[in-house]
Amino acid sequence: MRDVVLLGSTGSIGTQAVDVVRSAPDRLRVVGLGAGGDRVELLAQQAVALGVEVVAVAKATAASDLQLALYAEAQRRGFSAGQHRVPKVLAGPDALAELAAWPCDVVLNGMTGSVGLAPTLSALQAGRTLALANKESLVAGGPLVTPYRDQLVPVDSEHSALAQCLRGGRREEVRRLVLTASGGPFRGRTDLDGVTPAEALAHPTWDMGPVITVNSATLVNKGLEVIEAHLLFDVPYDALDVVVHPQSLVHSMVEFTDGSTLAQASPPDMRLPIGLALGWPDRLPRPAYGLDWTAATRWDFEPLDEAAFPSVGLCKAAGVRGGTAPAALNAANEECVAAFLDGRLAFPGIVDTVAEVVGAHPFRERPTLAEVLETEEEARRRARELVGERVARS
Ligand SMILES: NC(=O)c1ccc[n+]([C@@H]2O[C@H](COP(=O)([O-])OP(=O)(O)OC[C@H]3O[C@@H](n4cnc5c(N)ncnc54)[C@H](OP(=O)(O)O)[C@@H]3O)[C@@H](O)[C@H]2O)c1
Repeated sequence: MRDVVLLGSTGSIGTQAVDVVRSAPDRLRVVGLGAGGDRVELLAQQAVALGVEVVAVAKATAASDLQLALYAEAQRRGFSAGQHRVPKVLAGPDALAELAAWPCDVVLNGMTGSVGLAPTLSALQAGRTLALANKESLVAGGPLVTPYRDQLVPVDSEHSALAQCLRGGRREEVRRLVLTASGGPFRGRTDLDGVTPAEALAHPTWDMGPVITVNSATLVNKGLEVIEAHLLFDVPYDALDVVVHPQSLVHSMVEFTDGSTLAQASPPDMRLPIGLALGWPDRLPRPAYGLDWTAATRWDFEPLDEAAFPSVGLCKAAGVRGGTAPAALNAANEECVAAFLDGRLAFPGIVDTVAEVVGAHPFRERPTLAEVLETEEEARRRARELVGERVARS
């Protein structure tokens, strides 16, 4: 039995992780849950249903609402006082980092944004295995996180696929890693000026939270994944390629030195990589269904249109530069995505603004954690300023 702590349990990854744990009650048990604090009713439902020891919310002001929701949920289920475990409640900006060090076997970080960096470091420093969906913490933290590489298990479907394919050969036999990209909702389009948030949120193959969905539309997500692959697998950037595969059935591939390519394929269902990350290196019996070979199936692959989607090249360049560049890029992108979703920034303005922020940020080659956080704050401030200037010009 593995004890699991879920960070971001109310989100897309988090709720699917709860499903996975429920599908393997003899293998996995949730002992702690954490979220931002925007959906306390859902968090309380999960906490009472799973009988967890501890619940954490990042917003200190959500603590009392969460306590009340926990009592209400216990009553709704017909528990009277003493009949169920009342979980400890942690609240405030450090609560998720405290939860990440809670005694357990695996921490799954399914939070959105580089605010996940402190919990990521906390889980790793406490010696936990970290099932990492929150790629932003790895991208921003870079060399602060990679010393703990052996404790990291990927949740992103591409990196889970790569980890599975890498089992098929020796390290020195690997020639390159090929990440697949669905191409997002705007594949094949070149005029993206008038794109609306609703259009960007309509992903053709994956149902995910809003930030990663917009990142998939700009392809910044694929760029962050290239940086993630470099950091996770210690493979040089010139051995990392991206190919567009609209069906999202092949999740990534490893090419070996003899020209052989191993690919991992499955329906686009995050429960598979989540289950593998929680059970790693073992597979769980039934987190998801396999491919259906009874119907005719087409798998297409095409090169990435780097002119229409310059974001992958931009991210790769920031990754190659290293130091604070990926942290600045990610922080600026988070600000720009928020501005786009609020209707303050046009879609092409996201990547243009991010490029401007990264290009001019005060670069540090070997940042401390404090310097990474400072870089992020400065990049967010500069991105907001540039968005404001764009609004004023339009
Ligand atoms: N969704 C996918 O299929 C998928 C696939 C691959 C990788 N990922 C990665 O997984 C991560 C989560 O994505 P998602 O799609 O699941 O996002 P999501 O649906 O937006 O969920 C985000 C979760 O993070 C919590 N959260 C937000 N701000 C927080 C804060 N300041 N402190 C603590 N918790 C906070 C949210 O809590 P509240 O409910 O309280 O706001 C929610 O539980 C991202 O890094 C994404 O890139 C996602």
